[in-house]
Amino acid sequence: MGNKLQSMASQFATVVITGGSSGIGKAFVHQLHSLNRSIFFCNLSRSKPCFETDDIAYKHFPCHLGERGAIESVFREVVREMPPGRILLINNSGFGSYGPFPEPALEDQLEMIDVNVRALVELTGRFLPLLRERGGAVVNVASTAAFQPTPYMATYGSGKAFVLHWSLALERDLQGTGVRVLALCPGPTATDFFLRAGFKERVVSPGLSQTPDEVVIAALKALARGKRLCVPGWKNRVLTALSPHLPKPLAATLGAAILRRVRLAQLRAMKRE
Ligand SMILES: NC(=O)c1ccc[n+]([C@@H]2O[C@H](COP(=O)([O-])OP(=O)(O)OC[C@H]3O[C@@H](n4cnc5c(N)ncnc54)[C@H](OP(=O)(O)O)[C@@H]3O)[C@@H](O)[C@H]2O)c1
Repeated sequence: MGNKLQSMASQFATVVITGGSSGIGKAFVHQLHSLNRSIFFCNLSRSKPCFETDDIAYKHFPCHLGERGAIESVFREVVREMPPGRILLINNSGFGSYGPFPEPALEDQLEMIDVNVRALVELTGRFLPLLRERGGAVVNVASTAAFQPTPYMATYGSGKAFVLHWSLALERDLQGTGVRVLALCPGPTATDFFLRAGFKERVVSPGLSQTPDEVVIAALKALARGKRLCVPGWKNRVLTALSPHLPKPLAATLGAAILRRVRLAQLRAMKRE
């Protein structure tokens, strides 16, 4: 598999990634760089990334993906900087929040749709002519939350369901164009995601979560094998194979019961502070 991964990575001259500043996005940069040292990375996020090695060729484009017009102007700058050759676009930026809708605030829910959904569609649409011309691939980061209703994370899970279905449909639309699409659906992953979502402590035990590197290696293997969907980790694969077979209202009731326990754990943690 090592050779297959290397030859897959060697196809790409440029990787355009959103949210390469932390977590899964940062792991994508490190893993792809270790496979192909000549890749040029264009990172779009609010904070400048800090990589563990200083030989990564990258440019940071400060960008709040939730702001209207931000992508249009940053897109032109990125295109000016990109070397010729095939492009890998990784739509990774995203955030969640936990609580009954609209907690913590309606504005957060709307921003979540803008960052997790709208920005991904806009970036893919803007890069598509160049992707078709040069060849390349798009990786869209969805979630296992995409496979069933997610009470207490209603907007997040529903946005990820959009990303999953949109990516699988886009892959068919682009058949024969030289542009591939992979939907990546990680389960719980040890990143800052939960803290940023407002959880006070790690709500998923280490036995149930994966590292960002594990997620990214699974995604790159899927890309090398020409897959269109990647659910990293066997536990996540079992969950996502079973949950779509439940009647949707029952899945929502079960999801509410499970996620309510997370809320209780969170409240207990807050009381301890
Ligand atoms: N961790 C999990 O359990 C898990 C599970 C399934 C799916 N995912 C998905 O994986 C992706 C990466 O998340 P992660 O786990 O790596 O969490 P993370 O460490 O919090 O990373 C999220 C990234 O999104 C970027 N981002 C957030 N808001 C942004 C904005 N307004 N504009 C531009 N960039 C923004 C952040 O960059 P800046 O802060 O620099 O802007 C950051 O690099 C997300 O789409 C998430 O939904 C995560």
